[in-house]
Amino acid sequence: MNDTQHIVVVGASSAIAHDTSRLYAKEGARFTLVGRNLQKLENCKKDLIARGAGDVKLLEQDFSKPFESQNLLGQIQKPIHTTLVAHGILGDQEKLLQCSQSRKELFQTNTMSVIEFTSELIEPMKDQGFGNIAIISSVAGDRGRQSNFFYGTSKAALTAFASGLRNYLNPFKVHVMTVNPGFVSTPMTADIEQGPLFASSKVVARDIKRGLEKRRNILYTPGFWRYIMLIIRNIPENIFKRLKL
Ligand SMILES: NC(=O)c1ccc[n+]([C@@H]2O[C@H](COP(=O)([O-])OP(=O)(O)OC[C@H]3O[C@@H](n4cnc5c(N)ncnc54)[C@H](OP(=O)(O)O)[C@@H]3O)[C@@H](O)[C@H]2O)c1
Repeated sequence: MNDTQHIVVVGASSAIAHDTSRLYAKEGARFTLVGRNLQKLENCKKDLIARGAGDVKLLEQDFSKPFESQNLLGQIQKPIHTTLVAHGILGDQEKLLQCSQSRKELFQTNTMSVIEFTSELIEPMKDQGFGNIAIISSVAGDRGRQSNFFYGTSKAALTAFASGLRNYLNPFKVHVMTVNPGFVSTPMTADIEQGPLFASSKVVARDIKRGLEKRRNILYTPGFWRYIMLIIRNIPENIFKRLKL
């Protein structure tokens, strides 16, 4: 990577996104950081510049409600070498079972806004004929489980979307990588008891950067999740529906 790379980070204040951005900052990349909280974006900007980033532009956008995706994309300088789409919420499964507004917010934030934003990237990326798009989905999107199937569904849609987009953009030399993290210690999981399967956001960030460099299609991170999910996906439905997962 040379020092003129332009990296767009959506949900730039996310722990995973910020640790990934730091790795690019060390190489002198330029950034456009998109997020809902300008103060947090300012803090990210200062940190990235201190670590060697070039120019850093900030764009404020709350994704919990429909937004003007064309207008947002219009404010982002081209070309774009890499886009990392990272924003998302976990939601509260019990509340999601009861509350229509919570379900709408979850799917707008995790799914619709990602599809809207990324779809507006298609034409500029086709025109420039190079670049990467990394979309953070989740292992939770591989199979619905009773404990978090609303969140899992919101991510399963992203996994399908990223797969189709990768197929569609391949002839234009634009690479799309689906990122499937397992459990990661970040503010999103702060209320969950942390076990041995938890990884740090730094490990996941390193995997994302390396995955993009190697043009991985589907990245499980840490890598052992590929095998865990292989097993989970292959449990026969008649057994799976009886499990407390
Ligand atoms: N942590 C895990 O175990 C895990 C596992 C699998 C997948 N993931 C996925 O990894 C991605 C990054 O999450 P993380 O673990 O790094 O958690 P995080 O640090 O809590 O980051 C979540 C990000 O989403 C942003 N966000 C939430 N709602 C938003 C909205 N309405 N509009 C704009 N931005 C919004 C947050 O912005 P603010 O900072 O302003 O709140 C923050 O930047 C997410 O897509 C998540 O689903 C995480």
